[in-house]
Amino acid sequence: MTTSRLDRLLANLGYGTRREVQQMVHAGAVTLDGAPVADAGLRLALSEDVHGRLRVGGAALDPLPGMALMLHKPLGVTCSHKEAGELVYDLLPPRWRARDPVLSTIGRLDKETTGLLLLTDDGALLHKVISPKRHVPKRYLATLARPLEGGEGVRFASGELRLEGEDRPLTPAVLEPLSPTTARLTVTEGRYHQVRRMFAAVGNHVESLHRERIGALDLPSDLAPGEHRLLKAADVAALFETTGAA
Ligand code: URA
Repeated sequence: MTTSRLDRLLANLGYGTRREVQQMVHAGAVTLDGAPVADAGLRLALSEDVHGRLRVGGAALDPLPGMALMLHKPLGVTCSHKEAGELVYDLLPPRWRARDPVLSTIGRLDKETTGLLLLTDDGALLHKVISPKRHVPKRYLATLARPLEGGEGVRFASGELRLEGEDRPLTPAVLEPLSPTTARLTVTEGRYHQVRRMFAAVGNHVESLHRERIGALDLPSDLAPGEHRLLKAADVAALFETTGAA
């Protein structure tokens, strides 16, 4: 079991510098099992129950390192740590920006794409989800400028479609038309602007794009745009369940 000094743990969770955290401890603001902690150098085992036992300023401790969450990404926010304009990190508690290890998005959605976005501070999880070898399916709902012609699904499924400027063909993707100008598309890669460029490759144009599902994890219908929710172990497991994900 990993252990950590209390002051280091809280500093790494973004509560302040080590010195600031030490001052909080001396002021009695940090409690363990209801009693103020006297020693900022106290060693703690980073078990799940520490989370329930430790409180800062009377409030429950932030998630321990190894956190993962889903965000319902709204239109117009950018998946970046430092671009101009509103960023996805602005939608989360400000303290989370100061965490170490850093909280990052698992892949990206375009500024104009909405829907299911995952974030984690767990590098192994991040790589597992985005690794091309794992083929984790990502399902999108696209609204198109022009009616589907009928042959798009076969081209997307062929394994031969090339995006403009790329030599390597795309792995097969599944198209499910819903109306003449709306369709679900499930892809297992994460190339730059992939869905928009796939429809461009068949002479169409994506007007709006929304990610509904990653693996077998759906964006919950009660998670409003801009809201986030921590992932439970079962949610993380669902990312790698491919049955029925297409
Ligand atoms: N494909 C796109 O074109 N944009 C996204 O945001 C995600 C997939």
